[in-house]
Amino acid sequence: MERWSSNLGFILAAVGSAVGIGNIWRFSSVVGQNGGGAYLVPYFLAVLCFAVPLMILEMAVGRHLRSSVVSSFALAGEKLKIFGWLICLIVLLILSYYLVIMGWTLAYLTFSLLGRDIAFSAFTSSMQPVAYFLISALATGIIVSLGVREGIERIVSYLIPLAFVILVVLVIFCLSLPGFRPGMDFFLRPDFSALARPGVWSAAFGQAFFSLSVGMGILITYGAYMPENTDIGKSALIITISDIAAALLAGTAIFSLVFTFGLQPTAGAELAFTTLPKAFELMPYGSFFSIAFFALLFSAALTSAISMMEVNVASIIGETGMTRRKASLILTIILIITGLAPALSYSQVDLRFQGLQILDLMDETVGTMGLPIAAFLVAIIFKWFMKPDVQKGMTGTAEVWLCTLNFLTKYAIPAVLLIITISTLIGL
Ligand code: PHE
Repeated sequence: MERWSSNLGFILAAVGSAVGIGNIWRFSSVVGQNGGGAYLVPYFLAVLCFAVPLMILEMAVGRHLRSSVVSSFALAGEKLKIFGWLICLIVLLILSYYLVIMGWTLAYLTFSLLGRDIAFSAFTSSMQPVAYFLISALATGIIVSLGVREGIERIVSYLIPLAFVILVVLVIFCLSLPGFRPGMDFFLRPDFSALARPGVWSAAFGQAFFSLSVGMGILITYGAYMPENTDIGKSALIITISDIAAALLAGTAIFSLVFTFGLQPTAGAELAFTTLPKAFELMPYGSFFSIAFFALLFSAALTSAISMMEVNVASIIGETGMTRRKASLILTIILIITGLAPALSYSQVDLRFQGLQILDLMDETVGTMGLPIAAFLVAIIFKWFMKPDVQKGMTGTAEVWLCTLNFLTKYAIPAVLLIITISTLIGL
């Protein structure tokens, strides 16, 4: 099996998976919709108590078993393999609409480079999103087909540093804007009364798992390529801090812009594509910042999409012995087919199901429900069905931390995930 060239290679790839559209655009719009800073308290709780322990578990399982998601599940019990495939399916469906949004970021990057000013509604009602979706799917497929070191590690080692440089430059510029203070006030001031709203909690948990790419077998897959002697706890900490930093930096830039130009902080999903371009139009060096911002979004999306694809490619290779190239090709074709519906949903074809556009429908079903289900399966299978020696190789951390970790991953996390799944199902 292939390996990362170093632990840094692993960390960059894992940060690449974690830092994505979720940090830059979804985080800001979820914060905006949930009353600003209030949301940060449940978010940090969810990250520290739930997402991080599961991340450590996944990495430990990956490094110990050194197999794909499906093969790891099979090692826990031949009958459990089907759940491994179920996770692959969930990841594949999420990826198919993630690639559509990634296509939008690529389109807006192209428009900014060409100096064209195209309204989001005009863009989505044309057939262009389909073309950009196809390019995104192909780019992801080609990189994954090149292999762990030659493809994934090489691209993340350029794009992740680039993404952080862009974020820092954006934030430094935003410090001088008049909207910086009110923006920060909205973004960071905690309003504890919001904690009484159950919706805020489930939004925070969903966002924490999504943002850290936890519970989908990505870190089992990437963990399998880890060098032998890595400190898993420390790696998890670096990945988490980078992910939170990216979200906070992006939020700082976005809310400073929104408040400087009197735009709507709660614009929701259209924040990045409708609200911010307005700000770029009005600000000095706007075209430069527009290019930087969409390059950032695209790089972040690409490195996340790669990780989702790798979960499936590794499982196919592990189970069938197929070559990486062939597995990547087959998956790219499947993705193009499954992604066509969400790609067409905002176009003139206007694909809808029961009144809801397919892309939104997929986000509200697999995107919202699939993640807690997948995370629940990972926790249950690797804490309840797996032979105990897997946990032994977990970390070199103190006994008290291991006990806490054990309690959280074995009891608390599955219980909370079950509650989230059921309450989403019955529409609480
Ligand atoms: N974490 C990525 C983001 O923030 C999205 C993602 C989710 C990637 C699940 C992989 C798995 O955008």
